[in-house]
Amino acid sequence: MGTQQIRVEALTEVRKDFIDNRRYTSAEFARLEMEKLWTKTWHWACREEEVPQVGDYLAYDIGDQSVIVVRTSADRIEAFHNVCPHRGRRLLSGRGKINKFHCVFHAWQWDLHGNNIRVLDREQWQGCPDMTDEDVALSRVHVDTWAGFVFINMNREPEPFDEFIQPVPQFLDILRMEDMRYNWHKAIKVKCNWKVAQEAFMESYHVWGTHPQFLKYSDDKNESMAQGKHGKHIWAYEYPPGVPSRRLGKQAQTVDEIRENFGELMGDVFGDQLGLGEGDGQFSARALKAAGAAIRALPAGTPMEKAMEASFFAMKDAVEKDGAYFPMIPPEFRATMGDDWNVFPNLSVVWGADGTLIFRGRPDPEDPYNPDAAILDMISLIHWGPGKAPVVETEYLDDWRNQKASIPKLLQQDLGNVEDVQRGMHSVGLRGLRPNPVQEVQISHFHEVINDYLFSK
Ligand code: FES
Ligand SMILES: [Fe+2]
Repeated sequence: MGTQQIRVEALTEVRKDFIDNRRYTSAEFARLEMEKLWTKTWHWACREEEVPQVGDYLAYDIGDQSVIVVRTSADRIEAFHNVCPHRGRRLLSGRGKINKFHCVFHAWQWDLHGNNIRVLDREQWQGCPDMTDEDVALSRVHVDTWAGFVFINMNREPEPFDEFIQPVPQFLDILRMEDMRYNWHKAIKVKCNWKVAQEAFMESYHVWGTHPQFLKYSDDKNESMAQGKHGKHIWAYEYPPGVPSRRLGKQAQTVDEIRENFGELMGDVFGDQLGLGEGDGQFSARALKAAGAAIRALPAGTPMEKAMEASFFAMKDAVEKDGAYFPMIPPEFRATMGDDWNVFPNLSVVWGADGTLIFRGRPDPEDPYNPDAAILDMISLIHWGPGKAPVVETEYLDDWRNQKASIPKLLQQDLGNVEDVQRGMHSVGLRGLRPNPVQEVQISHFHEVINDYLFSK
């Protein structure tokens, strides 16, 4: 344990109730993930909105790999490995606009589709075997899109995206995330394994311990399940929102107290805890304000079903008045839809109504083989009214403990766990992790799917 060398073959065992903690600390395991997971699976690189015009590009860095996503026509996005086929210089960084690719080292050039348009003094390679047009083109990466996310796959022969993504669309397409736009995007340096960062958003078993302020407003009973390669968890809602968690041991509340709790939750708490600025975050502030006002305007004695209905229609009215989409989710569909999803390997969707939070852990490009270094992307997407989406640049937080004003309060609590979890992973006193077989199924399943990539064939 600790820093000693461990053969990855010794780390394959995963059960619903057991995960070897060395999967998070082994440098060899991290290298194997780079070689057999990140370069073989579909995973998302950016949002379509980040490359809106022809020639707009974004260089997406994950671990030791970098991929350029570029829009090549109104309805086509292509992607290439971010490397020059001459002597291997990285071509681009960040975001920008180009009309052709240009390597600044020896001035080779390519059109937007990656076809070479200039090899300086090409005739001097005459007779050399590996100088076909294909050899000097940019190396292509497969691309697909779903819900406004641009997915890439570096595998030469990837599994079909339509199969990979199942059954996620049938549950989440109702949110129309493709019409949402960024509200904010934080890329936070964290001293933990990328899986520790991701897993912080794969279960709600941690609510009592980490976010106790929420127990006043809702019962935190939930269960978690595998869905294809992916997973989701569902809050049981045996009691209506506004009823405190049974863990607090004080269930007896009047109709009016419950309704007031619910009003506080919808009107203030979500915006304060999961939003920034005006309160836009998991929901739009516009929707929360309307819901809170509607609930507070109800007469004493109004039962919860009526309060829920009033808040729902108040949100819907406010959002639609603003010209934005509000999902009408039938209750029977809502019951199985899932509250928080993890699309394998690193797209966590914690949706509100007219907005969603997105979380993504990835190996730190500045320290790619270090199992203790990751970037955690925290994102808020919102259905804005026409012309109201802000211009959003990614905010890079290298020292989040001194940059807390940039992070919603509840998410600071999640961040407060991940680095100490990683420290614990190294303890010689830790003999494996014991995930909850009901509420943390997403996590054990996540490791089973990782095993399929790392250890099959
Ligand atoms: S390395 Fe790119 S042109 Fe030489
Ligand atoms: Fe959390």
